[in-house]
Amino acid sequence: MKEKLLQAFADQYGDAQDARVYFAPGRVNLIGEHIDYSGGYVLPCALTLGTYGVVRKREDEKICFYSMNFPEDGVKETRVGTYQIEDEKDWTNYPKGVMWAFAEKGMKLSCGMDLLFFGDLPAGAGLSSSASLEVLTGFILCDLYGFEVSGEELALLGQRAENEFCGVNCGIMDQFAVAMGKKDQAILLKTSDLSYEYIPVKLPGVKIVIANSNKKHSLNESKYNERRQECETALGELQQAIGINNLCDLDDKTFDAYQIMIKDETRQKRAHHAVYENERTKNAAEALRANDVLTFGQLMKESHRSLSEDYEVTGEEMDALAEAAWQQEGVIGSRMTGGGFGGSTVSLVREEYVDSFIKETGKLYTEKTGLKADFYLVEIGGGPMLQ
Ligand code: GLA
Repeated sequence: MKEKLLQAFADQYGDAQDARVYFAPGRVNLIGEHIDYSGGYVLPCALTLGTYGVVRKREDEKICFYSMNFPEDGVKETRVGTYQIEDEKDWTNYPKGVMWAFAEKGMKLSCGMDLLFFGDLPAGAGLSSSASLEVLTGFILCDLYGFEVSGEELALLGQRAENEFCGVNCGIMDQFAVAMGKKDQAILLKTSDLSYEYIPVKLPGVKIVIANSNKKHSLNESKYNERRQECETALGELQQAIGINNLCDLDDKTFDAYQIMIKDETRQKRAHHAVYENERTKNAAEALRANDVLTFGQLMKESHRSLSEDYEVTGEEMDALAEAAWQQEGVIGSRMTGGGFGGSTVSLVREEYVDSFIKETGKLYTEKTGLKADFYLVEIGGGPMLQ
């Protein structure tokens, strides 16, 4: 891979002398969905799939971007200190946003650079290709220009780039999982204070299978913001009666006692999801520690149901994909992962059933939706690194 990337860099920028190759992972969230903006626990892991970057400093102030995934775009350029959005759909907004976030913190680049990127995450699959690119860029800046930034800060700078530069109101989960990933470990992150711990994912004979629904999600951003707003309003209503900072500060029993404060049924359902998903995530972390895969799988299924019925972020396609998975032999658990409204499911499948799982789930999914799903057997990988 490294050789191929260096060759591609040389093809674009003349030669690859002194160029460095970096990698940052994508992520899959095992459980704890849509609660990273309600102060809940999430349980993501980094993948061995992700984004590669090849970089070399320049003598002038030019910053050149090229992506092997978007060769039709050619080389795009900006200058040190000039970070602007010209086209909202432009992929360079993510690296530019990170450079902007670094500059805002006083970390200014001493010269320009030539950059080449390549991502092997399936596009639009909800595996955080944008967080991967953001954290990768931040990691590169630190290594190349000597900035000292911890993994947690790298995640926060990536999130800031996405929130304030790109205008996407995401939580902290994706960037944190990418920046802090560890091989064969899930990260139990408490999003209200960013405390975290690693939990080894030791599932002998069990594989993690991701199924990309290939459903194009066009409304996801506005719906995402709508859910955030609904949760904020529900929180405000609960705060009239009880002193909490986040929805997920409530346990299930306290929520049940106070939910009448929420004056709208839809908002009640949203808050119900947040509180119960948080409880499920804590229980799932316990189950993972105890190697209790069956309990873990059951919680994944409950999580999906709640995202479908209470939070309404799954849609017909993700429901069809998860329901098809639940019917298969050897499946321990399956649920949508990420933002929803399309994207992927994550399933835990016993090794000997993986082939039949892929075949039968794919078949049922196509029968129900007319779409074809793509399946990936994935491994849990580490955080950003110099190759
Ligand atoms: C997207 C966001 C995350 C998180 C998930 C849902 O991936 O970027 O911050 O909210 O959706 O869990």
